[in-house]
Amino acid sequence: MPQSMQITAATIDPALLDLPWEIPLEEWPAEVLAALPRGLSRHIVRFVNLSERVIAVKEIGESVAHHEYELLRDLLRLGAPCVTPTAVITGRTALDGSALNSVLVTEHLSYSLPYRALFSQYMRPETATRLIDALAVLLVRLHLLGFYWGDVSLSNTLFRRDAGAFAAYLVDAETGELHTEGLTDGKRLYDIDIARTNIIGELMDLQAGALLEPSVDTIEVGDRIVSRYTELWDVLTAEEAFDLGERWRVRSRIEKLNELGFDVGELTMKTEADGSGTRMIIQPKVVDAGHYHRQIMRLTGLDVQERQGQRMLNDLQTFRTVTGRKDQPVEQVAHAWLTEVFEPTLAAVPMELRRKLEPAEIFHEVLEHRWYMSEQRQHDVTTQEAVDDYVRTVLPQHWDEESYLSLGDTQEMEAIFDDEEPVPEDDADFAALDEATANAFELNPMGFTAGMKFKGE
Ligand SMILES: Nc1ncnc2c1ncn2[C@@H]1O[C@H](COP(=O)(O)OP(=O)(O)OP(=O)(O)O)[C@@H](O)[C@H]1O
Ligand SMILES: [Mg+2]
Repeated sequence: MPQSMQITAATIDPALLDLPWEIPLEEWPAEVLAALPRGLSRHIVRFVNLSERVIAVKEIGESVAHHEYELLRDLLRLGAPCVTPTAVITGRTALDGSALNSVLVTEHLSYSLPYRALFSQYMRPETATRLIDALAVLLVRLHLLGFYWGDVSLSNTLFRRDAGAFAAYLVDAETGELHTEGLTDGKRLYDIDIARTNIIGELMDLQAGALLEPSVDTIEVGDRIVSRYTELWDVLTAEEAFDLGERWRVRSRIEKLNELGFDVGELTMKTEADGSGTRMIIQPKVVDAGHYHRQIMRLTGLDVQERQGQRMLNDLQTFRTVTGRKDQPVEQVAHAWLTEVFEPTLAAVPMELRRKLEPAEIFHEVLEHRWYMSEQRQHDVTTQEAVDDYVRTVLPQHWDEESYLSLGDTQEMEAIFDDEEPVPEDDADFAALDEATANAFELNPMGFTAGMKFKGE
């Protein structure tokens, strides 16, 4: 490590120091790189294997690197869905003594996909609307925290599957600003406007590259970000007035917010007298997202996404009824559900197929499959039957997310999709990735990878 190099980080993994910082990122040797798909970017970004995990390294200017690092740290502390910053490295010098750009290091968000990768898989118009819906939720969440993004786009977002839909994460905070006192309407509207313009451009670009059906009306999809955002923002923040005798409506408002996946941290209530009597006015002040995620975490220790959590809670409730456990405390039922339903379901999936999807997503698909089979057969099928059939008929057909991920460089990825040629099985990246996956599984005998953690881990 050159003397002049400086690292800013909360904790330092010594392996970070062994990376070839004296070489421009673009020229880093293949053996340190992790081949995973990247979105489009102005800066050079590379994924790197580092002590059993993967980090993303982005070469940028020093002040921008520090700014983005600090912002991401603040956002994480506030509970925003975004990538985790690891370090900023400055003062890099090449072997010939010339100065190299600083880097921002973040943790690679496991199981995440850039939107272009999702399109090369599905190419279905609904995919576009689902991504927009996820982005609208992300934008509302960020705005509630007082974060102005400044460059909202599909490229600056990462997507993870969430029970058939998507959950969106912020990946690029370079242009962001945190206004802890709250965002002005002007800033919010500006962000939405940028989002709309960028999305339309990005979708047109996909169409030009034949990755999205030409019939999709890109303007209409772009307008959707505005309408979805506005609907959600209004439900979460609007004032509601009612008679004093209708106090049950406070509860129903809270339940409505919970259903949308938000918890009400604080509610302002005031009374106001008008001609017809005294009226009560409520407005949620602090809405905290991740209601179902938190409930499942509390009950089972599983760290899953919002819709996956909702799905699991529903299954848990059904299990409670069917097994006659209505009078038992929910914590106890949750424990039984975990050991009698959730764990056996995943254990029934052979190890080599488990890496195809995140475990919680596999569980969700098994539940869907059970429903589908029951409907076809016109009688209930057991989870065991469903998982056996799912493993035999559905999962093998699934695109292998990690194999796909091993395509690596975006350009290479596009070239392959243009020709629609399958990826060669003996690709060197495959071997490297398989080994990494095997290691991950070895570390955790249940086969849960980084996307699902246990409490206290
Ligand atoms: N931590 C991470 N996890 C997963 N993917 C990442 C991560 N960091 C970066 N990427 C990938 O790299 C791409 C580029 O990153 P980023 O948007 O930060 O670069 P940029 O050059 O600042 O972009 P822009 O051109 O918008 O300024 C992202 O779209 C994403 O696909
Ligand atoms: Mg970007």
